[in-house]
Amino acid sequence: MTALWWQTGVIYQIYPRSFQDTNGDGMGDLKGIEQRLDYLASLGIDAIWISPIYPSPMVDFGYDVADYCGVDARFGTLADFDDLLAQAHARGIRVLLDFVPNHTSDRHPWFVESRSSRGDPKRDWYIWRDPAPDGGPPNNWISDFSGSAWEWDEATGQYYYHAFLKEQADLNWRNPAVRAAMYDAMRFWLDRGVDGFRIDVLWHMVKAADFPDNPPNPDHQPAMGDMHRVLQLHSTDQPEVHCIAADMRAIADSYGTKGLGERVLIGEIYLTIDRLMQYYGGERAEVHLPFNFQLIDAPWQARSLAELIARYEAALPPSGWPNWVLGNHDRPRVGAKRGQAQARVAAMLLLTLRGTPTLYYGDELGLSDVAIPAAQVQDPRELREPGLALGRDPVRTPMPWDGSENAGFTTAKPWLPLNKDWATRNVAQMAEEPHSILTLYRRLLAARRTRLALSIGDFALLDAEGDVLAYERRHGTERLIVALNLGGQSRRLQLPDWASHCRPLLSTLAGAAPARDGDLRLRADEGVILTTE
Ligand code: NOJ
Ligand code: CA
Repeated sequence: MTALWWQTGVIYQIYPRSFQDTNGDGMGDLKGIEQRLDYLASLGIDAIWISPIYPSPMVDFGYDVADYCGVDARFGTLADFDDLLAQAHARGIRVLLDFVPNHTSDRHPWFVESRSSRGDPKRDWYIWRDPAPDGGPPNNWISDFSGSAWEWDEATGQYYYHAFLKEQADLNWRNPAVRAAMYDAMRFWLDRGVDGFRIDVLWHMVKAADFPDNPPNPDHQPAMGDMHRVLQLHSTDQPEVHCIAADMRAIADSYGTKGLGERVLIGEIYLTIDRLMQYYGGERAEVHLPFNFQLIDAPWQARSLAELIARYEAALPPSGWPNWVLGNHDRPRVGAKRGQAQARVAAMLLLTLRGTPTLYYGDELGLSDVAIPAAQVQDPRELREPGLALGRDPVRTPMPWDGSENAGFTTAKPWLPLNKDWATRNVAQMAEEPHSILTLYRRLLAARRTRLALSIGDFALLDAEGDVLAYERRHGTERLIVALNLGGQSRRLQLPDWASHCRPLLSTLAGAAPARDGDLRLRADEGVILTTE
């Protein structure tokens, strides 16, 4: 196969508010990202995806967009963005923006107009409904951030729909004028040279036309959060969304391969595997990569992971390219969830499976979830449903760069507290340590870059037992074995005959034992890559 950049490449997610501050306001900015491009280039990633940078009241930290064609002053200016893009491209790093098409801020001029009167030309750009006969909300749909998803507008006597906060009003994508305006917004950035988009909550974009009640969730537990009281059967994943995804893909494709190659679309979609696969498209292609989040929640158990990987590989459509994710700005960090020892094994898994990996900033340092004192909570999700561990501040804390004040992130008070161990868990320090997780990430990324077997090679699971997950990657004459011990005790793996003379290429721990008589010994919490070459 001819490999495309988004198939061989590694994507790195930046939460811009937390990456690098340059103007002393305690919040990261675009100039800060630009300053750290050399770090990203030396780490060995191929593209950055930057969470939203558009003008926003920041009620949901940028996922409430007030202008799709601008940059929030807190992050800088459009000129800063153009500089960042040029500097990234000069280093061979692509830049993906976060496109938030499902909803706008309630301060977006479109919504301000839409709510001004029932007869306003933009009324139908959003989802307005009369009350139910009892005067209550039109149906039982629940916001992902708890409570009814309908907000009463006294002035015009109707409810509007918001899948998230009431300050994030859902657009009506059934309206052609909305589609045209949003496609123009995509072109605005593509024309400037961005290399694609991560598309926020793609599966939410179209709702059932007649707005029936969602069915109750028989398995609901209060700890899951209010949103899970019902199944989002009618409020998400409607057939018409596929036409929109295909239109977006046609726009991306119309830019061809000028510059650093194809413009790529990544869809944020939390659905079961069969539903997820639909977003690759059929006759009309849809997103290049429907995000595969399965590793985030899966039980960390070798046999069930093997089964999950096999099921995902088997479900892919013929031209569907796989992808894998260990964490993002909404979910617990892998370092917290799997522990420090297994975070290293997880790094090897992420970077050796078949498919495009997305790495979340700070995971290369083994950052853990940072406890946020109640008085410092920022995330609206935590503020609305406190104490259920649903808050996202713990995974959005500043990147610790060095041992200087505030870890080199800012000269002011950081907007969220740093990780407590920042004096030692920081880039400058860990870059010097031959066995730090940062060094491991660098070595894994370098191995991926030089060995096509790791990026685009065929994949096959190997027979293994207990805590060992093992697979083969193969391209041309090179065959690699990846053997991961997901447990805290040493284990053996009987290698296939062809591999009995493989040599160790990389271990997650210091040194690596060579295989003897076709028998590979894995230490506790060890992952190893073996090669025939
Ligand atoms: C998904 C984003 O990842 C999350 O951070 C945000 O709160 C919601 N979409 C709403 O845009
Ligand atoms: Ca700043």
